[in-house]
Amino acid sequence: MSKKATLEIDGNKYEFPIIEGTEKELGIDIKTLRSATGGITTIDPGYKNTGSCESGITFLDGEKGILRYRGYSIEELAEKADFLEVAYLLIFGELPTAEQLDKFDKDIKEESHVDEDMKRILDGFPKSAHPMGVLSSLTSALIAFNPGSVDVDSEEAMYNAIVKIMAKFPVLAAWTMRKRKSLPLDYGDNALGYVENLHKMMFSRPNKTYEANKIVNDALDKLLILHADHEQNCSTSTVRIVGSSHAGLFASLSAGISALWGPLHGGANQAVIEMLEAIKEDGGDTAKYIAKAKDKEDSFRLMGFGHRVYKNFDPRAKIIKASAEEVLGDLGIEDPVLDIAKGLAKVALEDEYFVKRKLYPNVDFYSGIIYRALGIPTEMFTVMFALGRLPGWIAQWREMRLRKEPIGRPRQIYIGETYRPFKSVSER
Ligand code: SDX
Repeated sequence: MSKKATLEIDGNKYEFPIIEGTEKELGIDIKTLRSATGGITTIDPGYKNTGSCESGITFLDGEKGILRYRGYSIEELAEKADFLEVAYLLIFGELPTAEQLDKFDKDIKEESHVDEDMKRILDGFPKSAHPMGVLSSLTSALIAFNPGSVDVDSEEAMYNAIVKIMAKFPVLAAWTMRKRKSLPLDYGDNALGYVENLHKMMFSRPNKTYEANKIVNDALDKLLILHADHEQNCSTSTVRIVGSSHAGLFASLSAGISALWGPLHGGANQAVIEMLEAIKEDGGDTAKYIAKAKDKEDSFRLMGFGHRVYKNFDPRAKIIKASAEEVLGDLGIEDPVLDIAKGLAKVALEDEYFVKRKLYPNVDFYSGIIYRALGIPTEMFTVMFALGRLPGWIAQWREMRLRKEPIGRPRQIYIGETYRPFKSVSER
């Protein structure tokens, strides 16, 4: 028997179906609320209690710290899969066979060139431009060079747009980094795997032989997997709502990159390192920064702490913390900032303010420490997040289009002036 919710307003009762997901989550289906009640809506700033869609891509349990992509645990995927496999899984719903993966890889490699005129667009930016702003602009500019990627109603047209952006996005991301270092813009090497090629595009130098490092590439591959999707977070919801107007995949992704840039979202990984560096410069006085984070008069937040969904440890933070210690050890790097991070986390996790609010380290708390160990500049950290999140954004956009979801258009409760007649300037 399906569950129902009853709402009573001014003595009138209204019934709404309750839908149950495959993980027993319950949602009150209020699709008929306005029509049934004569115009009453709900209000939920930040959508803390509102589901925007039904999705079969990623499952989170915030209380238990569970994260699964298409039913596979993040722990297993991080340990046993590679990033391109996980990208295929997220986008198409199944782990690929060897043949499917080989075709996906080949189709992507076929599209790994970027129109040379795109370099002129990049040239227009000052070297000081933040890479996330540049990447968002270049992703949108790609549309002009790939007009067939916009109106993609057929699955084939969608697939072509997907392999194009999977191929060109890493090139653009590498170019944003190279532009800041005044390095030539190249295309890497199609003989390499997806992540190895990304690393080579980022770090190759014209005057010396590039040497791949397995520890580095394995760590990068794992980080990209850990960032690949996270259900209806801010940037993914942005990609879905922009895509719901049929604006096209690249335009939707460009909007998602801008949403991810914010320090409350993906930009936190850069903000965490800047915070840890400030604490180090300040003599490592973690107590002072914990006090600042708790002080309501102080806008300072403990960056990398807290999460809208996880009210327990973010499972990704656990894996990244262990990986950070392993990578730094393997590379023989002593980074005092890791010790400051661990000390800060220890104090916070024992402090009533954080315990009461269930604030734990999230995915961004330790990731920057690994990026730094891999030689990635701080201002590129959120670009790395975007590179990981790309297949998740694509998967969510594709699901929204295949399910023919309606255009996203929330309602509001108006709290402004009621009707008033116009006043001429002499009357004001
Ligand atoms: C990501 O959604 C996703 O899935 C995102 C993400 C993904 O993979 O896509 O997981 C990636 O964005 C991770 C989050 C990265 N952001 C940060 O690390 C920035 C610092 N964290 C916060 O700003 C905050 O915790 C959020 C934005 C992550 C969540 O904010 P919420 O859910 O809106 O919670 P809130 O701001 O209402 O906070 C509840 C309380 C408040 O105190 P009270 O008003 O109850 O007294 O907790 C406090 C907040 O002041 N609080 C913090 C805090 N985070 C929340 N206090 C100090 N430091 C913090 N970091």
